[in-house]
Amino acid sequence: MDMPAIVLIGAQWGDEGKGKVTDVLGGQVGYVVRYQGGNNAGHTVITPDGEKYALHLLPSGVLTPGCTPVIGNGVVIDPKVLIAEIDGLAERGVSCDRLLISADAHLIMPHHRALDRVVERYLGSARIGTTGRGIGPAYGDKVARVGIRVQDLLDPGILHKKLEMVLREKNQVLAKVYNRKAIDVRAVVEEYLGYAERLRPYIADTRLILARALENGETVLLEGAQATLLDVDHGTYPFVTSSNPTAGGACVGSGIPPTRISQVIGVIKAYTTRVGAGPFPTELFDDNGAHLAKVGVEFGTTTGRPRRCGWFDAVVGRYAVRVNGITDLVVTKLDVLSGLAKVPICVGYEVDGQRVDEMPMTQTAFHHAAPVYEELEGWSEDIAKARSFSDLPLNAQRYVLRIEELCGARVSVVGVGPGREENVLRYPLL
Ligand code: GDP
Ligand code: IMO
Ligand code: MG
Repeated sequence: MDMPAIVLIGAQWGDEGKGKVTDVLGGQVGYVVRYQGGNNAGHTVITPDGEKYALHLLPSGVLTPGCTPVIGNGVVIDPKVLIAEIDGLAERGVSCDRLLISADAHLIMPHHRALDRVVERYLGSARIGTTGRGIGPAYGDKVARVGIRVQDLLDPGILHKKLEMVLREKNQVLAKVYNRKAIDVRAVVEEYLGYAERLRPYIADTRLILARALENGETVLLEGAQATLLDVDHGTYPFVTSSNPTAGGACVGSGIPPTRISQVIGVIKAYTTRVGAGPFPTELFDDNGAHLAKVGVEFGTTTGRPRRCGWFDAVVGRYAVRVNGITDLVVTKLDVLSGLAKVPICVGYEVDGQRVDEMPMTQTAFHHAAPVYEELEGWSEDIAKARSFSDLPLNAQRYVLRIEELCGARVSVVGVGPGREENVLRYPLL
């Protein structure tokens, strides 16, 4: 029987806990596919034996024995980082033998990393606050049709030719615009051919393999990185990443057709965080913000930067449900809110004197959006041990139900701690 594909995405600005939820589902799916982004992602997974993993390029399914991790065509791969991640896991006894890497995925090259950093520095106060991993320049070259792909690692002549062509321009830019050293073609070809030897066994026609897997009754989970409001089309442009983390991107970035997607799981934090620059209406600059950051341990998994924190924004949640077609919400980190007397939820904005209930049409309006809050009563109990909805204090239940009502999608799971078991299950996810 043909089986469906399931998409899992971040509904806010990233770091919602996607890695944990993917890991929870790992045992029930045959394949976990990354379809966009690169090592700008940081997905933390804590396994039942208490081991903590921070994954950047590998899909979180890699930690489940028997599950096949796939890096799809839509991902940008820094091969050095990928090899280090594979080796790091091997040292801890986790095998990546089943890993499949799309031959069509693009490579992050040294000039991408160099340009990402130097462009940000030149932007000054207008900078985006990127992770500095070369993500934007790599996607830029992909769209400009001067990118270098994984399959080019298998053809040294082509690799050399393509790199020579693209560096002719990039070296002029690096040297003449940014006063940086030019990059040596031969040295980079040699370095990347070394990576080719290591990665060769994993390179595959992943879209064919995934099509066959679905035909054979396997379940495929497409794991998003970044999130809806960081989407280059649907996010807070230009303060976004350079790919499409939204559910539509899952088809483009994997080669799985839209008619196969049966379910979209939206992971959403019980409050809001954002790393890097850009508008964030519910951001808190007071003790409440510091409290969320401290209790929620809100520091970036990739760059270690402190995350900006704020209350739950239902306008953002509703927008994410609409743009992604979310069928199930997973509300994570509800435990972080325990102990607060009041828990405000942003239900709309006031923009230049006007009340709005949906995401404003323009960025200018979004920058001017002031949150309109509804205050819910808090709860003081420790909820880490709750496993069914009725285990939660009544006020915590009311908070979850209000999120469900405002966002317009059912809340199927509630996270009450970082561990794989620390979830309240309302409806089965698969
Ligand atoms: P991702 O990028 O979406 O995978 O999220 P990150 O891993 O960057 O950040 C989420 C953080 O929250 C990680 O440290 C997780 O271990 C942690 N986490 C996930 N779910 C929960 C939860 O329900 N409660 C608590 N306290 N922590 C959680
Ligand atoms: P996960 O998958 C949070 C942010 C950066 C910056 C912007 C652009 O862990 O949720 P980029 O390096 O992608 O060009 O940076 O996007 N950003 C993230 N924020 N979580 C992430 O990934 C992010 N990946 C990128 O901070 O504002
Ligand atoms: Mg993260």
